[in-house]
Parts: sequence; C-alpha cells; structure tokens
Amino acid sequence: MEQATMRFPQGFLWGAATSSHQVEGNNTNNDWWEWEQQPGHILDGHRSGLACDWWNRAEQDFDLAREMGQNAHRLSLEWSRIEPREGEWDDDAIARYRQMLVGLRQRGLEPMVTLHHFTNPLWLVEKGGWETETVVPLFERYVTRVAEELGDLVELWSVLNEPNVYAILSYAGGRWPPGKQNLLLAFKVLSNMLLAHGRAYQAIHRLQPRAKVGIAHAVRVFNPARPDSRLDRLAAWIPDYIFNRLVLTALTEGVLAFPLALNRRVPDLVDSIDFLGLNYYSRDVVAFDVSRPGEFFGRRFYPEGAEMSDGGYGEVYPEGLYRLLKRLAACGKPIYITENGLPDEDDDQRPRFLLTHLAAMQRAIEEGVPVQGYFHWSLVDNFEWAEGWTLRFGLIALNVETQERTLRPSGQLYKEICQANAITQHMVERYAPEVLDKLFPAQARAGRQSIA
Ligand code: BGC
Repeated sequence: MEQATMRFPQGFLWGAATSSHQVEGNNTNNDWWEWEQQPGHILDGHRSGLACDWWNRAEQDFDLAREMGQNAHRLSLEWSRIEPREGEWDDDAIARYRQMLVGLRQRGLEPMVTLHHFTNPLWLVEKGGWETETVVPLFERYVTRVAEELGDLVELWSVLNEPNVYAILSYAGGRWPPGKQNLLLAFKVLSNMLLAHGRAYQAIHRLQPRAKVGIAHAVRVFNPARPDSRLDRLAAWIPDYIFNRLVLTALTEGVLAFPLALNRRVPDLVDSIDFLGLNYYSRDVVAFDVSRPGEFFGRRFYPEGAEMSDGGYGEVYPEGLYRLLKRLAACGKPIYITENGLPDEDDDQRPRFLLTHLAAMQRAIEEGVPVQGYFHWSLVDNFEWAEGWTLRFGLIALNVETQERTLRPSGQLYKEICQANAITQHMVERYAPEVLDKLFPAQARAGRQSIA
C-alpha cells in the first residue's frame, strides 16, 4: 500500500514562538524582573537571569530555526527596553530589534511581532500599570514609535499576547505581578488592554495600511462534566464566556460586554483584527458546584485517565484544537496558531503531541478553516514565569548554565514536517506508532492484515 501523506497548504507558515522576557535575559527594567527577586514568587526560587541570552545571541537560534526548515518566527518586543523611562526612547534597543528582524528576514523567517507579552516597564507600573485608562494613550504612543521605526520589516503584528490570561493571573489569581486578587480589577485591566488594542490597530494601519494586525488570544476548551446536565452546561458556559468570548466580542463587534462594561461601544475596536491568533494548550471539564461561588459555581478538573503533561500543566487534548478551529472559523478571519505546545522535559510526549495536534489542524483546514500558519511554543526552553525553569517547552533543550542547545527528537520531527509541508505515514511510524491508527487508519489496518 502507498505511503499516506497529510499535506498542508502551499505557503503555509511554520515557526515557533518566543517572548522577550522569557528569552532575552537581563530585562532588569520591568515588573517581572522585580517580582522574581522577591522570595516565594517563582518556583524553586528561580530567576530569568540571562534566560536564553537572546539579547546577545538570538541569531544563533534563528540559525537553528532555519536549519529546522521553519519559514517564520513569532517574537515579542520589550517595552521596558524600547522606552526605558516615560517618553524616552532607547535608540540602541530599537537598533538591536532592527538587527534581529533583519536577521530573521535574511534567514527566510517571516517575523510576527507581539508588542506586549505580559511584562511592563517599571515607570508604567508606578503610574498604575493597566489599572486605569491612562495606559491607553501611552501604549498607543509606544506602538506608533515601534511601527515608525520597524514597520518596514514587519507585516504581521499580534499586538497583545493573551490579555485574558494576563488580567486573570496578575489581578485575580495573585500569582503574577502585581499579585492582586480582585476580580473586578481584572475586568478593568482586560478592558483597558482591549481599548489599547483598538488604538494600536488603528495606529499601525495609519502607518502601514497593508499590515496584518491581530492578537494572540488564549482560548481554552471548557466541557460540561455531564453534557445532559443543565447546571454543568451553565458552569462550563460561564468560563467560556469570560475567558474566551469577551475578547472576541470586543475585537469583532467593538463592544465591551458585561462584566467588562455595560455593553460599551468602542468604534476603534469594531472589526479590529485582520487575523485571529489562537494560543491553544488544553481543556477543563467543569461540573456545577454550589460550594464554589468564587469560581462561578464550577469545579474544573481533568478527566480520569487523561494524558497529562509535566508538572500537572494540563491535559493533552488534540481534539480541542480541531473543535476550536471549527468554532473560530465563524469570525471570518484568517487564523494563525500563535502558540501550541506542552512542557515535556524528557520529550516522551512531544512527538506524539505534535503529530496529533497538527493532524487536528490539518483536518480543520481540509474542512475549509483558513489556518495560515502554526507557531509551536517554543523554539528553545525558556523562563516559564511563576514556574521558572521547572517546565521545559522547547523543541530545543537548553542547558541554562552553559547555554548549550540540544535538538530534541520532537525538534527533529518538526523539522521533517516543516521541510515536507506534510505529515507522512513514515514519520508517524518512526516517532509515535501508537497513533498510526488514529492518523492513518487505512494504512494501519493494511499493516495489521499483512502481518496476519
Ligand atoms: C504564554 C507563554 C507561556 C506559555 C506556556 C502562554 O500562555 O503566552 O508566555 O510560556 O503559555 O505556559
């Protein structure tokens, strides 16, 4: 029987994603750096320190990305470097980013640039950070400056990274700086971030009418524990509404819906994405639980027997990617997977994870969902926020002490996929034969028959 192949569209973007603070090192002028210095904030007392030393050696990892057959890379710019003090621009920092972007282009890697990935300049924090609308014109000014300086090198902008995750973990969960636990404030922060997105969208388009400006939106699957129970369905609907939908409604309809505001209409936000970036990691099963008002009466858990990634980070659930893509197609925008990955230091799950998630994406594409690129999180192990260096997401392993890089087997597999722009039966047989049945059922059957 012929080798079976799953192909991806011509011109598909294959890359990985990173963020400034997680890879650059010595980002001493932002709120995360300060937060890391205080005991109890980061698991095992870890610090970002030199991180992956990208400020000095990003190009070495760009070389590796190119050798892996990638043709794109998603990175973020560090506001605290570009505008170290309010209204003061650091020309050297801008020049370094220019050099990185030129470096990506020279290697045939299309850059996708994020302008805010969780970290804030210390001067902004002193002014109240994202808690008041003061931040909106400040962010707009920063974005305008960046687009003026670097716009000739960037067509794809994913302005904000996961504003929902940022608002919730920093302002309601208390786990990220500034460590507050106030849900109403989290909604305020999310509103301000969305307002800032609207301004940034307009500002970039004024300077670069043909740019494609979007967002990297974290969307999670929430499944009712018992689908026939109305209460469970409601308990799953609420987090879906708050976490997933509020942002989408704002970016498409231009409305800050309750509880962000009382359906405030924001003209800048109407139809303010040219593409939707999806960050997909995992799902929660939700059961109604009257004893949990603080969690909107939902108990969230992972199903029994679910495959979990390192450190209890989440369930490995590739079907969720397919389901979300089908659902998000309704936005009518091109879609990029701006992040997808798992912590897996010994790489015993990542090859299978890649194959099953990419197969789920390919199925959605075959059914007409306009997915135009995939950015794996991440290229190289990097500083994983409150989990420090305990969770390893890289296709490339990093020895933090020596800065030595080692391609993981999943990195080798990803290289083969990027180069072939396809998944082949051979790859599945070599890297994760246990899912051959799932990915290429006819070939798996034929294989069994020939053995019999
Ligand atoms: C974030 C990344 C993070 C990754 C893995 C995403 O929520 O954008 O910064 O490292 O998840 O947890």
